[in-house]
Amino acid sequence: MSDQARRALEECRTIATMSEEPGRTTRRFLTPPVHQVHRHLRMRMESLGMTVHVDAVGNLRGVWQPPGASNRRLVLGSHIDTVPDAGAFDGVLGVVLALEWVQIAKDAALPIAIEVIAFSEEEGVRYGVPFIGSRAVAGTFDPGILAYEDAEGVRMDEAIRGFGLDPEKIGEAKLDDDAYAFVEIHIEQGPVLESENLQVAVVEGIVGQARLGFRFLGQANHAGTTPMHMRRDALAAAAEWIGVVESLVRKASQEEEPGLVATVGKIAILPNAGNVIPGLVDLSLDFRHMSNETRSWWCHRLIKEAESIGNRRGITVEHVSKMNEPAVEMDNLVSVRLIQAIEDAGFPVKKMPSGAGHDAMIMAGRLPTAMLFLRSPGGLSHHPEEAVREEDVEAALLVGEKFLQRLAAEVA
Ligand code: GLV
Ligand code: MN
Ligand code: MN
Repeated sequence: MSDQARRALEECRTIATMSEEPGRTTRRFLTPPVHQVHRHLRMRMESLGMTVHVDAVGNLRGVWQPPGASNRRLVLGSHIDTVPDAGAFDGVLGVVLALEWVQIAKDAALPIAIEVIAFSEEEGVRYGVPFIGSRAVAGTFDPGILAYEDAEGVRMDEAIRGFGLDPEKIGEAKLDDDAYAFVEIHIEQGPVLESENLQVAVVEGIVGQARLGFRFLGQANHAGTTPMHMRRDALAAAAEWIGVVESLVRKASQEEEPGLVATVGKIAILPNAGNVIPGLVDLSLDFRHMSNETRSWWCHRLIKEAESIGNRRGITVEHVSKMNEPAVEMDNLVSVRLIQAIEDAGFPVKKMPSGAGHDAMIMAGRLPTAMLFLRSPGGLSHHPEEAVREEDVEAALLVGEKFLQRLAAEVA
């Protein structure tokens, strides 16, 4: 293994120890371990000779400006927040490899400026809204979300101030016009590349995703004295609906709507006691498909199913949209450069869609954007056993070298 590949893997494993919870990797937006990650990555950026700052939404940003190069710069990056009990590579590998690409550009004295961004938030775990970091950089941050509260009742603007930043200055995080393209390197997080025995791929587009919150409101009551036919059990209604979501969407995905996925991944029950009929259930729905039309049609359908189950059971059902991000195509010109780099590096060219959301889907609204995927062993992600193969990290380094050489030749 090359020193660069070894260092990249070690960096990911070191950063995975910077966590809110001992023994597992959980790092939500602007929680204390994010300071540790910033300190660690800042040292690496400064040792490369980059100029570093943290913007007002907590993105760590380093600029590599070699002597004689124009200020026009390529932007690379991915996120440093994680899901609860995460693996070591989702997001972080893209930041660490971006820094290795800077190392390649520096060692080869390529006359290109590069900004690397470690986005502070992509997963949406703490506030239910993803892409907080990239939205600020793309200039599409909605200040209305600053009033959102996390599970502990901490408002987003308080969390930002508590981290030592000024939410009034989020507007300044927006990229200036010297940035000309964005590339994100990321693990595939699915089984396709492994099943085709391929190491890397270029992403064609990222599926659209909707996230909704649902509330099932019934009546809490005594579990021993309330006859079965006189209950308004919010959890029984929610459970019925979850079963309907799974069976309808599974059937549709096998028939007329390949690629349709729906997930209820989070649930809270009140009062959450064994001898009380549940009076209130809050749950999340994550819903994805490449076609915006299909996604809206199905969202509507699942809301209607919830309401009809609620009506039948005397349960009020409310829903709120937390995010509705349309599907995004990657930029053809930047993707072609990546494809050429893959060919130059001697790998077969594979193009594929991404079922996972990425900062690239937000950045694509601001800059021509492309993504490079690395194979995910076992197709496993959002899981502590998420992995990446050394030889695939080597492949991403070689593709980076070829990509940057081509870019340098074009800007020269
Ligand atoms: C981000 O990882 C997502 O949920 O797609
Ligand atoms: Mn993720
Ligand atoms: Mn990710």
